[in-house]
Amino acid sequence: MPSLKEIAATKGLLFGTAVNSGHVAKNSKLAETIRRECSCITAESDMKWTAIRPEAAKFEFTRGDKLAQFASDNGLLLRGHALVWHDLPAWAEAISAEDAETILVEHMKAVASRYEGKVGHWDVINEVASPNGLRDTIWLRHLGEKYIDLAFQVAKESCTATRFYNENRMEYDTWEMENKRKSVLKLLERLVSSGVPIEGLGIQAHLFPELAFSESKYSAFLKDVGALGLKILITECDVTDKELPADVAERDQKIADTFKQYLDVALAEPAVIGVLTWGLTDAYTWIKSVRPRTDGLPVRPLPFDDQINPKPAYQAIYDAIANAPAR
Ligand code: G3I
Repeated sequence: MPSLKEIAATKGLLFGTAVNSGHVAKNSKLAETIRRECSCITAESDMKWTAIRPEAAKFEFTRGDKLAQFASDNGLLLRGHALVWHDLPAWAEAISAEDAETILVEHMKAVASRYEGKVGHWDVINEVASPNGLRDTIWLRHLGEKYIDLAFQVAKESCTATRFYNENRMEYDTWEMENKRKSVLKLLERLVSSGVPIEGLGIQAHLFPELAFSESKYSAFLKDVGALGLKILITECDVTDKELPADVAERDQKIADTFKQYLDVALAEPAVIGVLTWGLTDAYTWIKSVRPRTDGLPVRPLPFDDQINPKPAYQAIYDAIANAPAR
C-alpha cells in the first residue's frame, strides 16, 4: 500500500505533520515514519517567539535550525509557524505601544530571512480572528488592524515562502464557530481586495466528534475562501477524544469516523492543497496536557498510537485522500 504522502501526491495534495526537532532527535521510529509518510512538516513550537526570542535582545535559533536541517536532509517542505501570534514570552507581553511596530518588524525580518530558502510556507499570522471580529492581542491594541497588513508586507519583503494566515475554531455549527467563519471571511475579503500579499488560509481543524458538523455550510465556507483566489491548507488536524467512550476499539472507530467525515468534505474543495495532522503519534500531542480525559485514560487523537503503530484513524485519513478529486 502506498504511504500517505504517496497517495496524496497522486491527487496533487500534500500530507504532513507538525513536529518538534527534539521529537525526531530522540525517537528514530518517528523520524523514519515522517520520512515514509510525509511530504511536509510544520515547526510545532521550534519557530515560535517563545523558542526563538527568549529575551528581547536574544535570538535563539538552535531548535529551528535543527528542524530546518531535518527537513532539508529528508526533502520535506518545511512550514514555519508562526511569525505573528499572541502567545508570547513574558518580556514581549510588556512591549509598549511606542515600540510595538519596531519590535514586530525586526523579529519578522530576522526570522524570515534566517530561514529564507529553508521554509517553504510561513504561517505569517496565527489565530487573529474572534467571533466578533478580531482577537484582542497586544498587536491589535498597539497597532490596530493594520498590523495584519504590515505582517504580510514584511513577510513578502523578507522571504520567498508562501504566505498563510492560520486560524482555529471554524469547523462546527456552534454560534462561536459560525461567527468565527464570518469574521475570517470578512478579513480575507478586505485583505485580498486591498492587495495585501496573503496567499493562503491555514485551517487548523482540531476536531470534536460531539459537535454538529454541517457539511453544506462548511463546503460553502471553503468555496467562498477559494473564490478569493487563496490556497487552503488543513494545518493542524487531530481529534479530541475527551467525550468519547473509554473502550479503545470503539473510541478509535469514532476518531477515525471524525477524521473521515471532515476530510471528505474538506478535500472535495479544489482550493485545498493538502492536510497536516498536529503530530503523528499519540506519544507527543498537546491534547495530552491541555485536553486530558476525565477518566485518566491516555488520549488517542492522532493516526499512530504511542508506539507509532497505525490506528483506524490512519486508514480513515488514507481513504479520505484516496477519495479526493485530483488537483
Ligand atoms: O519544553 C518544556 C519542558 O521543558 C517543561 O518541562 C514543560 C512544562 O510544562 O513545558 C515544556 O514546554 C511546553 C511545550 O509545549 C513543549 O513543546 C510548553 O509548556 C507548552 O506551552 C507548549 O505547548 C505548545 C503550545 O502550542 C504553545 O506553544 C504545544 O506543544 C503545541 O502543540 C501548541 O500548538 C498550537 C499551535 O501552535 C497553534 N494552534 C493550536 C495548537 C495546539 O494548542
